[in-house]
Amino acid sequence: MPAISASAPGKVILFGEHAVVYGQPAIAVPINQVSAKAIITPLINQPSGTIHIDAPEINLNAAVTELRPDDPLATALNHTLQAMGIEQPPAFKLRVTSTIPLAAGLGSGAAVSVAIIRAVSGFLGQFLGDDQVSALAYEVEKLYHGTPSGIDNTVVAYAKPVYFIKGQPLETFTIDQPFTIVIADTGFSTPTRVTVGHVRSAWQADPTAYDVIFNAIGDIARQARAVIEGGQSAELGPLMDANHVELRKMGVSSPELDKLVQVARQAGALGAKLSGGGRGGNMIALVEADQAEAIAQTLQNAGATHTIVTKVL
Ligand code: PMV
Repeated sequence: MPAISASAPGKVILFGEHAVVYGQPAIAVPINQVSAKAIITPLINQPSGTIHIDAPEINLNAAVTELRPDDPLATALNHTLQAMGIEQPPAFKLRVTSTIPLAAGLGSGAAVSVAIIRAVSGFLGQFLGDDQVSALAYEVEKLYHGTPSGIDNTVVAYAKPVYFIKGQPLETFTIDQPFTIVIADTGFSTPTRVTVGHVRSAWQADPTAYDVIFNAIGDIARQARAVIEGGQSAELGPLMDANHVELRKMGVSSPELDKLVQVARQAGALGAKLSGGGRGGNMIALVEADQAEAIAQTLQNAGATHTIVTKVL
């Protein structure tokens, strides 16, 4: 059996994070500049069922049997084997690498899972469709998120822009005019399960106030889809600003995120917001293509640890 590899992109949520957990629509797009990769090499002369995982970025180098049952990498692997009905695969080594920052709202967990699921199923000679890959990755997302909406595994598995509503069939949509965004990392991170848990407690304490916020964000996401399909991408700027206001009300922004959002706007961005779980991680800014590099540099000068310029097509 030859070595096999699979990779999966990062992602950003353009509109609708958190409210999406409560049934509102959200829009997410793949980010191909960063990716996770899984490489499988057969281990010749080792008993079948032997699986070794090597993930240098998280200092993991162990037999899968030595890992905790809720280890996310082992979970992705075991769910894939189960789905294929294979208990004793030929011995192999699974190496996982990623250029996606961890716990930063760029979909690192989902991308690692999708890469593992595709590599393992490919190695064992079975093709899994995007829907199956997404469903398996969702099982792993539960470890990261507690109560995930499913948006991360969906956008990463399909690797296309998605208009996502929890529990509903996937809707892709057409981007009439490509637009450019700058993604900037605050350098701080809070696990998504923490911010998702915070929003859940706050919603339980004051459901009326939080439902108003979730509905407002749902309206913004619906308008954003219409604007993107209508080719009026500059109008996404004020919608990003409005979405950021609602996320601040929800308590998931941070001084660092607010600062980078402000700096981006002052530097000429058409709009900006935090992206993903929040309380750190990344923000995104809609920019004119010819200003993107300058705005990215200004964000770095203001403390962003990493920036990515990407065209949404
Ligand atoms: O993985 P992150 O940090 O991009 O956040 C996922 C988006 C949330 O809406 C906050 C959670 C979810 O499951 O949808």
